[in-house]
Amino acid sequence: MRNRSVATVAIATIAALGLAACGSSNEPEGTPGGQTSSLATTAGGAGGEVGVFTWWAAGSEKKGLDELEKLFKEKYPNDTFVNLAVAGGAGSNAKAKLASDLKNNQPPGSFQGHAGAELLDYIDAEQIEPVNDVIQALGGDKVFPKNLLDRLTVDGNIYSVPSNIHRANVVWANTEVLKKAGINAVPTDIKGWIADMEKVKASGVATPLSVAGTWTQLQLFETILISDLGVEKYNGLFDGKTAWDSPEVKQAAADYKTLLTYANTASDGDDWPVATDMVIDGKAAYNVMGDWAVAEFAAKGKKEQTDYQYFAVPGQEGVFDFLADSFTLPKGTKNPGGTKDWLMLIGSAEGQKAFNLAKGSIPARTDVPATDFPPYQQSAMEAFKTNDIVSSIAHGAAVSLAWNADMSTAISKFYTTKDDAGLVTDLAAAAKKYLP
Ligand code: GAL
Repeated sequence: MRNRSVATVAIATIAALGLAACGSSNEPEGTPGGQTSSLATTAGGAGGEVGVFTWWAAGSEKKGLDELEKLFKEKYPNDTFVNLAVAGGAGSNAKAKLASDLKNNQPPGSFQGHAGAELLDYIDAEQIEPVNDVIQALGGDKVFPKNLLDRLTVDGNIYSVPSNIHRANVVWANTEVLKKAGINAVPTDIKGWIADMEKVKASGVATPLSVAGTWTQLQLFETILISDLGVEKYNGLFDGKTAWDSPEVKQAAADYKTLLTYANTASDGDDWPVATDMVIDGKAAYNVMGDWAVAEFAAKGKKEQTDYQYFAVPGQEGVFDFLADSFTLPKGTKNPGGTKDWLMLIGSAEGQKAFNLAKGSIPARTDVPATDFPPYQQSAMEAFKTNDIVSSIAHGAAVSLAWNADMSTAISKFYTTKDDAGLVTDLAAAAKKYLP
């Protein structure tokens, strides 16, 4: 198990999702969630402290966590919830603190980890334990989609409990700004989108597109890759079938460079709400952001269609750029009983409804009624069922933490140099380090 590479798992999950023609010999054995061990729990909770480590420290993200904390206190009165959140979207600060706590054998009660390649890092480092019993007690593959459980499974063991699914390839747009610019149709490709940005500029909005710090730029870039490469070639970037210096990647780098000429100047530390708020405030027409953004629009009292609109990044209608948060049972944690109470709560239908309503994401469970959610989330639930699913680079689904770090360095360097050929060279060099 320990020698399974990230790329091997990427291939296994892609195969499981039906996105590649290759066989599934790398798929974990056994039915995910099908283990038989039972879960011993105490009514009211095991007692003691449960430190929960996330990066949901502010704004709408904190509201989601607050919902979980409230329910946890209600269901497990014997336990004490300790909020260990470290501010910074996408775990931009949290991940370093977590890595050092894990290295120093100071694991929290549970920590947030992305389904897919990122989780594999923790599994390979032997920092987390299987949670088969919890998944089983929650309903296993009767309530969690197989394509999600596959991303949490290595050699038949499931290593985390998913709390939600997010979509990364969404454009959020200001209705009034588009109207003023005379834009009334959704562009179908990057070229068309750039033409619309020209119209926005001509209408007097200096920065049609908003971006924030490095991880938001990496996320924007990944969506341009998806548009310019298409699903199959994009997936091929993670198993070596698509070269990182192919003409399509070069095109994506060139398009990304053009897009940034329409964007504001961001500081590295700018977190995502800075960019999303520019759309909310009418200072930009567009922001590419994961659908945690919908919670920000809601928090600012904005109404769908009247105030804002959303659509898949041009060129990827029918494609869902996937990421999922999940929670772990760290090896050596002081109160594993309390951790399992937490995992049971976040994996329950009640916990998932409360959390995802506040967070903008959709439940990982399939038995939470869509009608309980606002229109955006209903559309995302439908899209997750029917679209082609691809894995997010910026949010741990497609690449390991180390590969993500190298790509972030390349994207950050590019933000200064604007040298698209250099970006391709750096990305190809990074891929070479991590592909088998
Ligand atoms: C992602 C995470 C989301 C959201 C986002 C912005 O990595 O999966 O839940 O928190 O970062 O911070």
